[in-house]
Amino acid sequence: MADHWIENHKRDPWRRQAKASGYRARSAFKLKQIQERFKLIDKGDVILDVGCFPGGWTQVALELVGEEGDVVGVDLDPCQPIEGAALLVGDITDPHTQDRVLEYLNGRQLNSIISDISPNITGKWDMDQAIAMTLVTEVFDFALPFLCKGGHFVTKLFQGVGVEELINAVRPHF
Ligand SMILES: C[S@@+](CC[C@H](N)C(=O)[O-])C[C@H]1O[C@@H](n2cnc3c(N)ncnc32)[C@H](O)[C@@H]1O
Repeated sequence: MADHWIENHKRDPWRRQAKASGYRARSAFKLKQIQERFKLIDKGDVILDVGCFPGGWTQVALELVGEEGDVVGVDLDPCQPIEGAALLVGDITDPHTQDRVLEYLNGRQLNSIISDISPNITGKWDMDQAIAMTLVTEVFDFALPFLCKGGHFVTKLFQGVGVEELINAVRPHF
């Protein structure tokens, strides 16, 4: 099983393309596809990237906002530096980390919150899904007040209990 996974991992065309393009993670292409479809990020935007390690989304977001924009990323794991981005290490649900994000923003509003946050997967779907939902809700509760009018919120969700309710709860804000 492990050998099979390693073979698939090596053959994964997105991973190979990410490496060839200089992106740190194949997930970079996920954000590019979201951008192509929804045009969320503009030049000059200020972006919060939640769960940013190893930095694939941050790299793409930086390309999109250009030199006039700004990207602040947060993750439990430390990222290698990315020129032009502020990368904070910490738990986004921890008020201390949240204060550091706000300190960095220094009163500026966010144009987009992009969150690819994912808990450590245990393999027990119900438990993983519940933890993931809680994380998304906490990110939303923290960051929404700092999102500008007309701003965007992109998040990874694990399909399951509470997804519809969450979407219904956030819909009025957009
Ligand atoms: C799928 S990875 C993100 C990949 C990233 N978007 C990229 O393109 O490189 C999910 C990340 O969420 C982070 N994470 C999970 N819980 C977190 C928390 N409470 N605070 C901050 N980051 C968290 C994990 O450490 C992990 O690095």
